Amino acid sequence: MKLIDVLNGGAKVWPPPVWLMRQAGRYLPEYREVRAQAGDFLRLCMNPELAAEVTLQPIRRYGFDAAILFSDILILPWALGQDLRFAEGEGPVLPPIKTRAELAALSLDRGIAGTASILETVRRVRAALPAEVALIGFSGGPFTVACYMLDGKGGGDFPRTRMLAYEDPALVGGVIELLVEGTIAYLQGQVEAGANCVMLFESWAGILPAKQFRKLVIDPNRRIVEALRAKTPDLKVIGFPRLSGLLVGEYVRGTGVDAVGLDTVTDPKAAIGACPPGTVFQGNLDPLLLRAGGEALRQGVAGVLDGFRGQGHIFNLGHGITPDVKPETVSELMNFIAVSSA
Ligand code: CP3
Repeated sequence: MKLIDVLNGGAKVWPPPVWLMRQAGRYLPEYREVRAQAGDFLRLCMNPELAAEVTLQPIRRYGFDAAILFSDILILPWALGQDLRFAEGEGPVLPPIKTRAELAALSLDRGIAGTASILETVRRVRAALPAEVALIGFSGGPFTVACYMLDGKGGGDFPRTRMLAYEDPALVGGVIELLVEGTIAYLQGQVEAGANCVMLFESWAGILPAKQFRKLVIDPNRRIVEALRAKTPDLKVIGFPRLSGLLVGEYVRGTGVDAVGLDTVTDPKAAIGACPPGTVFQGNLDPLLLRAGGEALRQGVAGVLDGFRGQGHIFNLGHGITPDVKPETVSELMNFIAVSSA
């Protein structure tokens, strides 16, 4: 598996393996069809047959080097007992946790049992994938998931969570603690079910000041990496501390992840300089270039390939594909990668 070869330190793997965040999704007509059949997004995530099908769709269409389990980072809080719905055009909505009693009502045992159908999806996908295509398991990073649990919705700046981190650090710490335990069990389950590596999506890492970043992002991510490695010593972990800027090096050193996903604004050279030698980088093409296409896309691809030349690199976007991308433009991207790296 090319992706795992790179994670094992193969800086010489060329051209780099490719997959795209949100590669299974609404930009694909075949996804929209299955989603309509499932009824809603949560039902799709919890149906192993349909979730496996949409996981495989982008692999069939584009021949990516990795599949990512089709699920969502909010399945874990939902399995733990927090209500969740995906409102059309609004994104996720949860009843925000306000009290210790509401936190205490969530149950780790229930959460582990509640993710059984996701693990069944992992088994089915691994059995159906070609041997050379890696399967990436994932979970949200505890801080990012806590943002949704405490604010009750997305939107990007999570004012309640950030205020609570000052006013009631014990409540925030309690949510993070539960998520660290839940994430370890959940990812361990995915690995046992056949995931070849795992990724932690800390998509909102970048909203914290440095001191809180260390406590609420680096420390919980490190505990997850250590616990997983204690059971599976050669397990490869990709971290994605989005928008963490100059703290990215500290994140890699502090957590022990093997690879780090870079967001669109991070300059490859700056990240390479900040991270320890041997770090593998994943990213970081601007997703907007998949709407632009043509010459702008070609130059963007060449820039990303150049930026990481000589490093272990997994080609990806800096954030997820948006629903308005034309499927043909992703084929164009694959051609540009092949031509630019010839
Ligand atoms: O293809 C893949 O990347 C695998 C599946 C995947 C989804 N979400 C499917 C999804 C993964 C890895 C995620 C991670 C996720 N989910 C993150 C971290 C990555 C990031 O984007 O920063 C976050 C923050 C979420 C929470 C979430 N889920 C939001 C904010 C939304 C609404 C936005 C939107 O695009 O509608 C979702 C819904 C969601 N998750 C969809 C998909 C395909 C769209 C659901 C649909 O309507 O079909």
